[in-house]
Amino acid sequence: MPNVLLLTGSPRPHGSSSTLAEIVLEGMREAADIQVERVDTARLENKHRGCSSCYGCQPAKFRCMIHDATARLINRVPEFQVIVLATPIYFFNLSAQLKACTDRFMALCSYDDQGQVISPLRKIHLAAVVTSEGDAATSGLEVVQLWLKQLSDFTGTAPIPILHQGHCGRDAGPTLRDAELRTRALAFGRDLLA
Ligand SMILES: Cc1cc2nc3c(=O)[nH]c(=O)nc-3n(C[C@H](O)[C@H](O)[C@H](O)COP(=O)(O)O)c2cc1C
Repeated sequence: MPNVLLLTGSPRPHGSSSTLAEIVLEGMREAADIQVERVDTARLENKHRGCSSCYGCQPAKFRCMIHDATARLINRVPEFQVIVLATPIYFFNLSAQLKACTDRFMALCSYDDQGQVISPLRKIHLAAVVTSEGDAATSGLEVVQLWLKQLSDFTGTAPIPILHQGHCGRDAGPTLRDAELRTRALAFGRDLLA
């Protein structure tokens, strides 16, 4: 049974990015029995606002040595087969809440004798769900796309599929009740397990 981690990046637990990601999970459930753990990164209690740059993870190899909630999560990441990153676009980028958490993925990266990156992330399927008020051309989506590409290139994961929905304002309800979007999100979820 695939173990799936949903990491949300919005401070609004029932906002558009989390809601859309939950529909993606429904699609995954149509394809397979999955076990899901959802973590709202905005609610993680942490010692620092992000990575403390202690470099304790490097000799520890794939363990974050900070004693906080994000470290406990990061140290369990290799148990998951799929990670869905859900984020609103904030000032033309992913949200700071999700970024502060994923910066700690550095603990899951090390270098071999040839200077090549080695990471347990390589075996994990990553996917992203992104919502924004603007559309694909105006929201800053391309910055998130580039970040995801660099994340996958660096860690060696497969290319990261992205489901983006624009025109999600403060009241995301009308957009998310859109039948066509629901169909697209369910298919996106099913395809992640194909
Ligand atoms: C601080 C802040 C910054 C935002 N910046 C952008 C932006 O750069 N581009 C955009 O299209 N939408 C922007 N938005 C709108 C959100 O991305 C959009 O409403 C999103 O769907 C909210 O998702 P959520 O309900 O999951 O929080 C911003 C919203 C906030 C609160």
